[in-house]
Amino acid sequence: MRILAIETSCDETAAAVVDDGHHVLSSIVASQIELHARFGGIYPEVASRQHVLAIDGVIATALREADIAAVADLDLIAVTYGPGLVGSLMVGVNTAKGLSLASGVPLVGVNHLVGHIYSLWLDDTGAVGCSWHDLAFPIVFLIVSGGHTELVLMETHGQFQVLGSTLDDAAGEAFDKVARILGLGFPGGPVVERAAEKGDPHQHDLPYPLQGNLSHRFDFSFSGLKTDMLHRARKAGLQDPGDEENAPSPVVADLAAAFQAQVVTNLLDKTMDAVQFHEARSVCICGGVSANQQLRQEATERFGQICVPMRIPPLRYCTDNAAMIAAAAYALSQLETDAPAGLDRSDLGMDVIARLPIPENSLT
Ligand code: KG4
Ligand code: ZN
Repeated sequence: MRILAIETSCDETAAAVVDDGHHVLSSIVASQIELHARFGGIYPEVASRQHVLAIDGVIATALREADIAAVADLDLIAVTYGPGLVGSLMVGVNTAKGLSLASGVPLVGVNHLVGHIYSLWLDDTGAVGCSWHDLAFPIVFLIVSGGHTELVLMETHGQFQVLGSTLDDAAGEAFDKVARILGLGFPGGPVVERAAEKGDPHQHDLPYPLQGNLSHRFDFSFSGLKTDMLHRARKAGLQDPGDEENAPSPVVADLAAAFQAQVVTNLLDKTMDAVQFHEARSVCICGGVSANQQLRQEATERFGQICVPMRIPPLRYCTDNAAMIAAAAYALSQLETDAPAGLDRSDLGMDVIARLPIPENSLT
């Protein structure tokens, strides 16, 4: 089953063709990072306009690389319909509607967060941990991206239960804000990671977020840590740090290292707790922050110690991409239900939804 997927929920214009939900025939991602870097964050109107400019070329390249001569040769078109920036989502959804109408190929909408979850069932090359063939239910998922930090228990395909989420900033958002505090540029994750390589995390004793939250509701909070970083940066005289992108000072490197270490420890502590409390048989980490090398290494070590199979996607499927949307569309459309969780079959009547939660327990 060959699916063309389109993803424009934030600042990546992406299209992919995936066969049977696993075999990626093409995955094209046009990043807008350089456009937004000068604003120090994503500028929604600029993002929508850039999607308008890029989308035709991105889809044409995805079809060409997958050797698809005409859209009508596909079995399904899948598009992200939320959550995300409304103007950005609309470009993808309207393009997908046009392609579906012109070709007669059916259309489905996919929840972006469910898409991140299904990035775990794509190709193995470059992934960390076990193969997707070895994932056993129930699985605990840690979704860590620019907009979301969620722990989700997946009982089987299409059945999700949110165990906890962030009470304030998402983990990726915290990386982005701390990068700005340290004068490291945008997006924050990769630049903080690079600066941290030369730093000593033990130079700072940072507060541990939500200490004592033992209710087995696995929530996160990163805004206190971010504010603490702001005070430390000011104390270290970094009020006007300038562009440190190429050569972070030792002070910046130590702060970056301490922050990264604390976020990684906190994310993995909560995930370990959730895995053990719910007796999960596998654990997966996905979303942009799962590209972080320290997170990948420590997760491998910690879940290895408790012998729980763990998997993190290859870097190309951690950050936003359309292949994961195709993977989700495939898995959910195989379920014997008319209304699978995370899939919208409303076709040409489909709307976009900015704040679309992870669908819970709807496989009944
Ligand atoms: O999943 P994603 O591409 O978009 C959203 O759905 O939000 O995630 C983007 C987020 C950004 O906040 C970015 O700073 C973070 O992922 N990120 C990282 C790394 N690469 C990207 N965070 C930590 N370490 C990284 N290497
Ligand atoms: Zn995302």
